[in-house]
Amino acid sequence: MDSMELTELWQRYERFRKRGLKLDMSRGKPENAQLDLSVPMLRMDSDFICEDGIDARNYGDTTGIPEARRLFSELLGIPANQIIVGGNSSINMIHDALTRALLCGPMEVDTPWSKLPRVRFICPVPGYDWHFHMCETLGIEMIPVQLGPDGPDMDAVERLVMDPEVKGLICVPMYSNPSGITFSDETVMRLASMKTAAPDFRIIWDNAYCVHHLYEHDRDHLMNIYDACEASGNPDRVLMFTSTSKITFAGGGIAAMGASPANIARHSALLTYQLVCYDKLNQLRHVRFLPDKAAVEAHMAKHAGIIRPKFEYVLDVLEKELSGIGTWSRPKGGYFICYYAPEGCARRIVDLCRDAGVTLTPAGAPYPHGIDPKDSTIRIAPTFPPMSELKSAMELFPLAVKIAAAEKRGQLFPFSK
Ligand SMILES: Cc1ncc(COP(=O)(O)O)c(C=O)c1O
Repeated sequence: MDSMELTELWQRYERFRKRGLKLDMSRGKPENAQLDLSVPMLRMDSDFICEDGIDARNYGDTTGIPEARRLFSELLGIPANQIIVGGNSSINMIHDALTRALLCGPMEVDTPWSKLPRVRFICPVPGYDWHFHMCETLGIEMIPVQLGPDGPDMDAVERLVMDPEVKGLICVPMYSNPSGITFSDETVMRLASMKTAAPDFRIIWDNAYCVHHLYEHDRDHLMNIYDACEASGNPDRVLMFTSTSKITFAGGGIAAMGASPANIARHSALLTYQLVCYDKLNQLRHVRFLPDKAAVEAHMAKHAGIIRPKFEYVLDVLEKELSGIGTWSRPKGGYFICYYAPEGCARRIVDLCRDAGVTLTPAGAPYPHGIDPKDSTIRIAPTFPPMSELKSAMELFPLAVKIAAAEKRGQLFPFSK
């Protein structure tokens, strides 16, 4: 880049900064039009009786109302009696599952993990920052393993699970947060069948984006890991989670866990004195609105209609403006586009965007302890801002990338640090 181009780049950045915008692209949240799709669900002022005769307004059905268990059975591909429908958050259910393993042991025969000198989890990276903060908070040591287009590096995973202190793996197997990849059948088979030194090894299968396709006819497919675990003689290995947070209301949906009969018995027993029951009114509202998978899919097609143009807009800008500078994902579903900046630039790009009024997810967030060894991964969350704001943000983003890349090459700007 010659000095004329550098000056022009700097001037464009400065002009943008002086507009004084305040745009937030930091989290994968639905936009208002998506939330509006589910407002009719809130109208429920009579007939509160669930299929099993229980009044949703009263105590009962600790593990979920039958019709909600059936709905998640379809979504997760596991029998309804192997589902616990919980409250409004799958993250909360994952936290509970890990806490139970730490305090009580995954099964009665297992030593509670907190009594062991060290508990380690495999964390495919880039991954979901909430998982990593959760492990950190609970004292679980994280071992990052590279996530490729087919899932985690399985040679590395199979080596690591030979260590009895490695008690689990936490992942987003479909339209992964943030890289957008879906685990291949081979990856799922290897995860299900690998030999682990820890008999109480658990895979936390956070399938948050299981029905979040952007295209009707061009979708990823995820093999059913429970079936694969069962066929491999490891039925207790996997705990599957999902929620309707990005189907109905984020933070106002319903969440579920699916697992083997033994795991469900264990978790149900430990749930008994944790709460009398979850919010069954919300469960009932949900199943009246979305009674089965077909209804969910029709509803999700409406979501896709709203957010697909945003994904396509971001990808278009990246193609036009940044061809040859970094690489990026082209997801077929989920909530994120991942931009892989030239090494050593991610933090600076995020800072430049912030200083000019656009908040992105902090660089490093998709890695344990916020440390991206290459300082390269940036999570772009295009869903929340209205299209006009997204367009502004995407005007800035390529400028920030080009400035950071030029600085990295040693070309300094008036404001370079
Ligand atoms: C992978 C993943 N899991 C879970 C969640 C949150 O789900 P919930 O609202 O059900 O806790 C998110 C939200 O961004 C997510 O990306």
